[in-house]
Amino acid sequence: MPFCIGLTGGIGSGKSSAARLFQGLGAGVVDVDDISHALTKPGGAGIAGIMRQFGQEYIAADGSLDRSRMRELVFKDPLAKDRLEAILHPLIGQQSRELVAHATQPYVLLVVPLLLERNTYRDRVQRIAVVDCSEQTQIERTMRRSQLSESAVRAIMAAQLSRADRLAQADDVLHNDGDEADLQKQVAALHEHYLALALKAPRLT
Ligand SMILES: Nc1ncnc2c1ncn2[C@@H]1O[C@H](COP(=O)(O)OP(=O)(O)OP(=O)(O)O)[C@@H](O)[C@H]1O
Ligand SMILES: [Mg+2]
Repeated sequence: MPFCIGLTGGIGSGKSSAARLFQGLGAGVVDVDDISHALTKPGGAGIAGIMRQFGQEYIAADGSLDRSRMRELVFKDPLAKDRLEAILHPLIGQQSRELVAHATQPYVLLVVPLLLERNTYRDRVQRIAVVDCSEQTQIERTMRRSQLSESAVRAIMAAQLSRADRLAQADDVLHNDGDEADLQKQVAALHEHYLALALKAPRLT
């Protein structure tokens, strides 16, 4: 296993942006949201299980998960979310493990939005990096991107760890209230640090 750092942060904090910048510098990136998305695309490994659990009507004509239909169901029936996660989470866990194990880069960032809320990925990472910004910045950036209302964003944030609780568990912090160039500068510095740590770390098997 290569040296592996968990990258996390609240909704809209800048995890994907930071991950892209690290990747541009040569880091390996494994993003559990990307894996989840791929599992529910046409031909994805999650489709068969979803069809079995929920029925053909939750599969769109192109063979992907019918996301809006599933969203409606989850809204009406909170248990449906658990059932969907019971199908997808083991697959995400397994695929992310394989992707990290086979990475050829000096180190890998494992991007897990709920890394600190759930315990699943904790024992896989040697270090935790948190992307942090003010709640106001989080709300503005998320709303600009997703058409969610402020109260909808706040509701999602309320279900996640508070800033302080997340920061208390961070080994490294990327402060993302500035512009992209500011984030890039911090990523470049942290990348050098991670390269040095990866060199010293024994390659775990
Ligand atoms: N430093 C920055 N300056 C300006 N815009 C930014 C900055 N960082 C991120 N953004 C923008 O804010 C939005 C959210 O960023 P990003 O998608 O990286 O966050 P995220 O933590 O991955 O979000 P999610 O929790 O939804 O996955 C994006 O539209 C992104 O382009
Ligand atoms: Mg993201």
